[in-house]
Amino acid sequence: MTMIKTKDLHKKYELGKGNHVHALRGVDMDIDKGEMVAIMGPSGSGKSTAMHLIGCLDKPDSGEVYIDGNRVDNQYNGTLTRIRSREIGFIFQGFNLIPTMTAVENVALAAEYAGASKRDAHDAAKKAIEQVGLKDRMYHRPSELSGGQQQRVAIARAIVNKPGVILGDEPTGDLDTATSHEIMDMMRDINITTGTTFVLVTHNPEVAEACDRTIRMRDGEVIDDGRESKPESRDLDDELMEVGG
Ligand SMILES: Nc1ncnc2c1ncn2[C@@H]1O[C@H](COP(=O)(O)OP(=O)(O)OP(=O)(O)O)[C@@H](O)[C@H]1O
Ligand SMILES: [Mg+2]
Repeated sequence: MTMIKTKDLHKKYELGKGNHVHALRGVDMDIDKGEMVAIMGPSGSGKSTAMHLIGCLDKPDSGEVYIDGNRVDNQYNGTLTRIRSREIGFIFQGFNLIPTMTAVENVALAAEYAGASKRDAHDAAKKAIEQVGLKDRMYHRPSELSGGQQQRVAIARAIVNKPGVILGDEPTGDLDTATSHEIMDMMRDINITTGTTFVLVTHNPEVAEACDRTIRMRDGEVIDDGRESKPESRDLDDELMEVGG
C-alpha cells in the first residue's frame, strides 16, 4: 500500500532577472505505508525541496503529489494547511521550538493548531511527552533542555496529532553520535509500534542504515530508489568465475 507518491515533480526557484535554479527535474517517489525511508544526496540535490512538496509546505511547478491516495499538490492553501497539520508531522534539524513556551505547551500548540480544544490539546500533549520519555521535563523551557531532549519534544510535537507521515529534514544534524542513535532508535520505535511512515533527509550514513531503504538524489533527480537489489560484489565474482570456466 502506497502512502506517498510523487509523479514527475518539477520545481524551479526564480532568482530574478530571468535567472532560476531547476531544483527538481522530474522526481518520482513511491513510499509504502509503514516504511521508514532515508533520502540522501549531495548538498543542493533537491532533498529539502522534494520534502517540502511532500509535506505540502510548497507546490510544484508541475507533477503530482499524493498522500494516502489523495492528490494534494492541486489543493487550495487552506486545504493544504489542514492536511499538513493533521496528516503530517515535521522534525527539523534546529528543533524549532518556541523558546518562551514549556515543552508541553510547545506540543499542545500543534494539537490546537490541528483543531483540538485547549483541554484536549493539553491532554494529548502530556501523553506524547510521556511517550518520548520526558514526563519529568514537561514544564521545562527549551533553554533548560539538552539538544537530545529538545529533539524529543520536537518528536512529541510531530506525533501529537497521530499523523500518517512524519518528515524529518536532518533530524539528527545538530546532535552528537550517541544522541543521534538515541533519537533514531526512538523514531524507529514509533515507526514500528504505530506504523507511521517516516521519510528522513540525512547526510548521516548510520541514520540511512537504520532505515528500510535509501532513496538517492543528484542534481534534482532520483538516481537510485533503493529498491532494485543490485548483485553483491561477491555474487558478481561468482558469476564471473562461472563464466570464466
Ligand atoms: N528558496 C529558494 N530560493 C532559491 N533557490 C533555492 C531555494 N531553496 C533551494 N534553492 C536551490 O535549489 C537547489 C536545491 O536545494 P535543496 O535545498 O532542495 O537541496 P538539498 O538537497 O536539501 O541541499 P542540502 O543538503 O544543502 O540541504 C539548490 O541549488 C538551492 O540553492
Ligand atoms: Mg536540505
